[in-house]
Amino acid sequence: MSRIFYVNGDFVAEEDAKISVLDRGFLFADAVYEVSTVLAGKLIDNKAHLRRLARSLSELAMVAPCSDESILEAQHKLIELNTVQEGLLYLQVSRGVADREFYYPTNTPSSLVMFTQSKSLLDNPAAQTGIKIISIPDQRWARRDIKTVGLLAPCMGKQAAVEAGVNDAWMVEDGFVTEGTSNNAYIVTSEKQIKTRQLGHEILSGITRDAVLRFANEAGYSVLEEAFTIEEALQAEEAFITSASTFVMPVVNIDGTDIGSGSPGPVAKQLRKIYIETAMSRQDL
Ligand code: PDD
Repeated sequence: MSRIFYVNGDFVAEEDAKISVLDRGFLFADAVYEVSTVLAGKLIDNKAHLRRLARSLSELAMVAPCSDESILEAQHKLIELNTVQEGLLYLQVSRGVADREFYYPTNTPSSLVMFTQSKSLLDNPAAQTGIKIISIPDQRWARRDIKTVGLLAPCMGKQAAVEAGVNDAWMVEDGFVTEGTSNNAYIVTSEKQIKTRQLGHEILSGITRDAVLRFANEAGYSVLEEAFTIEEALQAEEAFITSASTFVMPVVNIDGTDIGSGSPGPVAKQLRKIYIETAMSRQDL
């Protein structure tokens, strides 16, 4: 059975899920997006994703396509129509369709498209082995706190990782790690302190980051929101990433050097367990 897509109020088959060539998302990457997790048929932390969507829209003076309640209703219907038990729901808002001019068009309705991807997230074999990464220069624009679809630099980074035979890349700017290509980056120092870059225009304020830092504090870890270098990461006991699709994922090798024992460490494992248990025990949020 083919997937059902959502396009501006309609639930349609993939072959009918089309937008205009003049859509500003297509021409200028003038669009923002969110990826929410679905576990046991329920959306995880979706309200926080919708809050971040509203912030991205507001930073770009883009009008919301409809109310949060309408988005939520459509999300639930899409999950049901596609019988998604576990996977992701992708949502994208663009400034809409207008003849090609750089300045923002007026009175143009924004557009909303959504689709689901059923995939196994809990039983991810990478969580057992950990992932390997390389470091690369951060070549993105200066407002990474806005979740835009302008993702060519991260695509180049992931491609470089694939070509290097590893799983992902951490991006480095002015000597400090910003984040992963599509995730936030962390180390656990020899003093058992969890370190991750402070929020700002340089990184995305991850919804999973927010939850995991809360859980880490509750579990008694000392958390420091401060930038770190690759050299510090190579000396660390552990490293890991967080995102909606990977939850907490151990990083066991950076640029060919093993981190700690070279296998997933206790802190990453514990935080992954807490994150998944909490997500599974909560209502659709
Ligand atoms: N990526 N940093 C970047 C650059 C990201 O693209 C993402 C998410 C994150 C983690 O954010 P969150 O915890 O809210 O998923 C951090 C999504 C999953 C993606 O582009 O597919």
